[in-house]
Amino acid sequence: MIEIKELKMSYGKSRALNGINLSLEKGQVVALMGPNGSGKSTLLKSILGLVIPQKGKIFVNETDIANNYLYRTNIGYMPQIANYPENLKVKELFNIIRDIRNGSKEKDEELLEKFRIFEIYDKYFGQLSGGYKQRVTASIAFLFDPDILILDEPTASLDPLSTEIMKSKIIDSKNENKLIIISSHIISEMEELADRIVYLLEGSIRLNMNIKDIKNGSGERLGKAIARVLQSN
Ligand SMILES: Nc1ncnc2c1ncn2[C@@H]1O[C@H](COP(=O)(O)OP(=O)(O)O)[C@@H](O)[C@H]1O
Ligand SMILES: [Mg+2]
Repeated sequence: MIEIKELKMSYGKSRALNGINLSLEKGQVVALMGPNGSGKSTLLKSILGLVIPQKGKIFVNETDIANNYLYRTNIGYMPQIANYPENLKVKELFNIIRDIRNGSKEKDEELLEKFRIFEIYDKYFGQLSGGYKQRVTASIAFLFDPDILILDEPTASLDPLSTEIMKSKIIDSKNENKLIIISSHIISEMEELADRIVYLLEGSIRLNMNIKDIKNGSGERLGKAIARVLQSN
């Protein structure tokens, strides 16, 4: 579904991605982990065409994404930080997105309802708490029922109840055979949700394994098992 080959990306002189090779298939939740600055957001943005890497190729459903933008209609994206204009009302934001999609039908309003977005329709985006901003961006990511979901630290500012809503949405999407890529620091959450861990360090993939294989029947907590595998690599 997504194929990444020899991807290299620098911001000026600083190297963010250092030769990434990665192949991701549908019907799974992939956790993109690694410390701050390891390149997680940059990798996710490269798949979306929001940053343009200097080297390498990305294929989405066998199509090279360079000079192509239509593939994006099949990806739902939840950015780490939502940068919508502060003086835009939530209602206006949804109207703009509907206009941009130009008649594509909204197929999935479940999160809008469960997160009670309609109740804040008349608030300005800049007035919303971090948690509400994340609820808005999550609702947008799932709205057009895309086959691929890219969620950049989706539960970072969510309250416990909203986190549970988000988790069940992710699991439902996986059961609909979608590909969900989540960047996160929260190991316990990834242990619950993910099938595979891709661990980045300084722009390189240090580990790319199914959770089952990482644990290898050891009964360890996931964090400990990841540390063990990283040390033996
Ligand atoms: N817009 C940018 N301009 C310059 N450097 C950036 C920019 N975005 C990210 N970086 C740098 O690229 C590296 C990877 O960042 P990022 O992809 O945000 O990592 P992560 O999401 O894992 O925290 C870091 O060293 C970061 O400082
Ligand atoms: Mg990030």
